[in-house]
Amino acid sequence: MKLEGKVALVTGSSQGIGQGIVLRLAQEGADVVINYRSHPEGAEETLAKVQAVGGRCYMAQCPNSGGYTIKADLGNVNEVRQLIAESIEHFGRLDILVNNAGIEKHAPFWEVTEADYDAVMNVNLKGVFFATQAFVQHLIETKRTGKIINISSVHEELPFPNFTAYCASKGGMKMLARNLAVELGSLGITINNVAPGAIETPINTKLLNNPEKLGALLQNIPLGRLGQPQDVASLVAFLASSDADYITGSTFFVDGGLLWNYQEQ
Ligand code: BGC
Repeated sequence: MKLEGKVALVTGSSQGIGQGIVLRLAQEGADVVINYRSHPEGAEETLAKVQAVGGRCYMAQCPNSGGYTIKADLGNVNEVRQLIAESIEHFGRLDILVNNAGIEKHAPFWEVTEADYDAVMNVNLKGVFFATQAFVQHLIETKRTGKIINISSVHEELPFPNFTAYCASKGGMKMLARNLAVELGSLGITINNVAPGAIETPINTKLLNNPEKLGALLQNIPLGRLGQPQDVASLVAFLASSDADYITGSTFFVDGGLLWNYQEQ
């Protein structure tokens, strides 16, 4: 197992891609912190699944399963700092941070409200910034290296009309990773982005329930299907492992070919 003895925090892991990542990291032997904001039942489901895949605790401080759930809103910096502190307190340390929590709001640019702009930017960018900062402070204090993996999107590159704040947040995440790869390199801390395309998760329930829109989207995906959370999770497990020690500052797309698909009819 690639991640035995490691502790990982995955933000936004009560459902979707985050839940898939938690399960995969637990299968690879990591102890995992499951974070949720508004779906405690989803976090409990993730925890039960961790137990089912045989997650076990490697750290002295935790009781048995190797999984632990913490409520925190990633859009609130105090809660973000509390989340990192509680994770460290529970398992005694943190080795891997997966910045997965993210939201999107659909509206034409000229109708976007300040509240919606703030909600998207606070969770998708500010929360990532300060979670990463608190994690790095912990690594510096304990003189250890660590791995940061951001769940970005094809939309850190690709325009997505009616989702301008979302695209701006993911574009920001791209530069955050590049900048920190340089700034944290001498500390032995790596940071990379995993950029999913259309993955079958609750974030796109509306699209999944609209056969016309879904059909049009599938036409744009060379591999001809939506992605599944485990398609993303397998790459995260690799990037979190020592196999990826020399990889930093890069974005890896998991999109069935969506990003670069252009064909003349
Ligand atoms: C968005 C989804 C969208 C997908 C492909 C993701 O980043 O969250 O809503 O379907 O990109 O465009």
